Amino acid sequence: MLIKRPADIAPSEITPRSLFDGRRDFIRAAGLGAGAALLGGVLPVPAHAQTAARGAKLGPLARSAFSTDEKLNDYQDITGYCNFYEFGTDKGDPARNAHRMTTRPWTVSLEGMVQKPKTLAIEDVLRLAPLEERIYRLRCVEAWSMVVPWVGIPMSALLKQVEPLTGAKYVEFVTYHNPKEMPGTLLPVLDWPYVEGLRLDEAMHPLTLLAVGLYGEVLPNQNGAPMRLIVPWKYGFKSAKSIVKIRFTDKEPLSAWTRANGREYGFYSNVNPEVDHPRWSQARERRLGEFTKRKTLMFNGYGDQVASLYTGMDLKKYF
Ligand code: MTE
Repeated sequence: MLIKRPADIAPSEITPRSLFDGRRDFIRAAGLGAGAALLGGVLPVPAHAQTAARGAKLGPLARSAFSTDEKLNDYQDITGYCNFYEFGTDKGDPARNAHRMTTRPWTVSLEGMVQKPKTLAIEDVLRLAPLEERIYRLRCVEAWSMVVPWVGIPMSALLKQVEPLTGAKYVEFVTYHNPKEMPGTLLPVLDWPYVEGLRLDEAMHPLTLLAVGLYGEVLPNQNGAPMRLIVPWKYGFKSAKSIVKIRFTDKEPLSAWTRANGREYGFYSNVNPEVDHPRWSQARERRLGEFTKRKTLMFNGYGDQVASLYTGMDLKKYF
């Protein structure tokens, strides 16, 4: 396998690489030849994902007012077509490999510029607020999107536990890293562990979710069990999976993707159809399972709720 330097690899490359690799199950499941998929067919889902064991039921769940009423992507799409590079860069790799990840016991430590640093077990996190179902659009930087019925609690419910100091302006999310369980981390695709960051006001925003489930069930490992970030107005890579540490800081965190290629992946990464990725347009996207591309919406359609966070900022400069 070709090992690329971090600066040479980009999420955009994954789909074509899967197709060029001619991964058998990928193409068999799609019922498409590689050429057909490249010419603009629906995005394929690996066959094995369709037999994946379902998680335990969560509930009762309140339906959030923030939910979209768009058609949901089905469970197979959401759990079979994943980005979780710790398990491999092919979209089917996380569904194939993530069962190796140990998710119990699991703790998350909240540290840095806070009054009361704490380490919480996942069971404690689940008790912080009532579980909600939030149906969100997820727009990937690779210009595909899907609609997911997440289950979670507001991220603010967790962050408030440690009383951030007034000087804290950002939060850094550090994710699980165990090479014994994560074959993808044996390759220097990114500088592991996967790290992401948000401004504190973004992290505290009511739309920002700490997801613990989807489709009313416990989150499958490949989608970031047992807890992951969801920031629906940003490109999907900001939504760090399998979080183990949250660090409050006064400096902008350096995310794994910005570290790998800062020219292509900025800190803000707000969905913005007017700012192209240096190598492709972000004006349109393909919804998983659909043939015709649709227009990408500013802030992924969540502008009414979040545009005020960026008043006065040049979003071409702070991309
Ligand atoms: N988190 C970790 N730890 N590792 C990853 O590779 N990929 C990101 C994000 N979070 C990633 C991650 C990217 S590129 C996307 S698009 C979303 O997870 C995908 O989430 P999904 O697979 O649940 O759709």
